[in-house]
Amino acid sequence: MKAANVSCFVFKFIRIHRRELCRARTAGQQSSTTQFQQDCSPGHHLPFNRCIGHILHRRYSTESSVKDCRGLLYRNHGDPSQVVQLEPMELPPVGAKSVLVKILAAPINPSDINMIQGTYAILPDLPAVGGNEGVGQVTEVGSQVTTLKVGDWVIPRDAGLGTWRSAAVLKEDDLITLPSDIPLLSAATLGVNPCTAVRMLSDFEALKPGDTVIQNAANSGVGQAVIQIAAARGLHTINVVRDRPDLQQLTDRLRAMGATHVIKEETLRRPEMKDIFKTCPRPRLALNGVGGKSATELLRQLQHGGTMVTYGGMAKQPITVPVSALIFKDVKIQGFWVTRWKKNHIHDEGAMRTMLDELCSLIRAGKLSAPACAEHSLQDFQKALDAAMQPYSSAKQVVVM
Ligand SMILES: NC(=O)c1ccc[n+]([C@@H]2O[C@H](COP(=O)([O-])OP(=O)(O)OC[C@H]3O[C@@H](n4cnc5c(N)ncnc54)[C@H](OP(=O)(O)O)[C@@H]3O)[C@@H](O)[C@H]2O)c1
Repeated sequence: MKAANVSCFVFKFIRIHRRELCRARTAGQQSSTTQFQQDCSPGHHLPFNRCIGHILHRRYSTESSVKDCRGLLYRNHGDPSQVVQLEPMELPPVGAKSVLVKILAAPINPSDINMIQGTYAILPDLPAVGGNEGVGQVTEVGSQVTTLKVGDWVIPRDAGLGTWRSAAVLKEDDLITLPSDIPLLSAATLGVNPCTAVRMLSDFEALKPGDTVIQNAANSGVGQAVIQIAAARGLHTINVVRDRPDLQQLTDRLRAMGATHVIKEETLRRPEMKDIFKTCPRPRLALNGVGGKSATELLRQLQHGGTMVTYGGMAKQPITVPVSALIFKDVKIQGFWVTRWKKNHIHDEGAMRTMLDELCSLIRAGKLSAPACAEHSLQDFQKALDAAMQPYSSAKQVVVM
């Protein structure tokens, strides 16, 4: 049979378009789309106040905090365990429209690793601080800040802030508040994966209770969020994971989260699938975070007219789409990138707020928990990075400051 090849993950080496290229002498300053240039080396004098503002309102409150500010920087692309270093960082003054944030916790996501390797679709200028997600607490605000106050929990509005550091001076507009009554690990991991799960479950098929969603990489951060949000919406989920020695334990854990079925990749090609479809309808939506054969097998399970949304390419393999799936089953093949969604909704505060409110309500109701996490201190970053790149780990590595 003829097949159409769809590249699942385009590793374009696109440099971030720098709307406001602000070269900062230190790492505390960010634009909304890119991490500011950071250079702590002596003799490098760059106009670091250009975007943050010239007026110095209050300096960082304690001398020791300034001294203690540290971050995980990389000066070259490459193997994260080789190029990432823990370095002391000088914080710039807090400008009129900026705030000082103590970072509380930040996860290590695959996109962070890809950014360091230089293979992600957006790349900050180097040197850069790693990390795109995390939660922090505002400890000081500039004189013209209106939406944030001391004590607020905040998360990045967009990718590229460089969250693997103990503190940062950030623009008010680059942050969005979160209620501080949710668990720290939930807050630290809320802005990327659960948001991706919400959008994919909401924006592609008009799913109703009783419908089915199938996904691979079901034990990933995205996958765990999909299971829980889908369960809260009354949807069945068929969750595909790679075989492993502790498969039963993983299956039990995902089922406890609300997974309807948990199956191995191999099962997708077996007659057992017929038994599964006696208990739930064929999926209207397939969520693909892997690519390659795994994606093709998901596609085969879709019902007539269903949609497969690709959001990740962990296997780094293109997808083969059977021609018959397009012609006779009329399936739709689409992609989703939460970074693009956030950019498209940058002026739609309500859309982001509604999504975060929904997620926080689920958390408070005990229907959405953080993914299984392994916590590390900043000093233990090598261990955290190594663990984040291991297969079959089933845990999100989180740096807790
Ligand atoms: N498009 C978007 O907006 C968006 C948003 C969030 C995340 N993502 C992407 O989604 C993917 C998952 O992110 P995450 O943070 O949820 O990941 P994560 O929690 O770190 O989990 C990684 C997942 O990938 C699986 N995996 C790794 N290598 C694999 C391979 N060769 N074949 C099959 N599965 C493999 C792992 O399975 P094992 O346990 O079997 O190793 C695990 O389920 C990443 O590609 C990420 O970049 C995209």
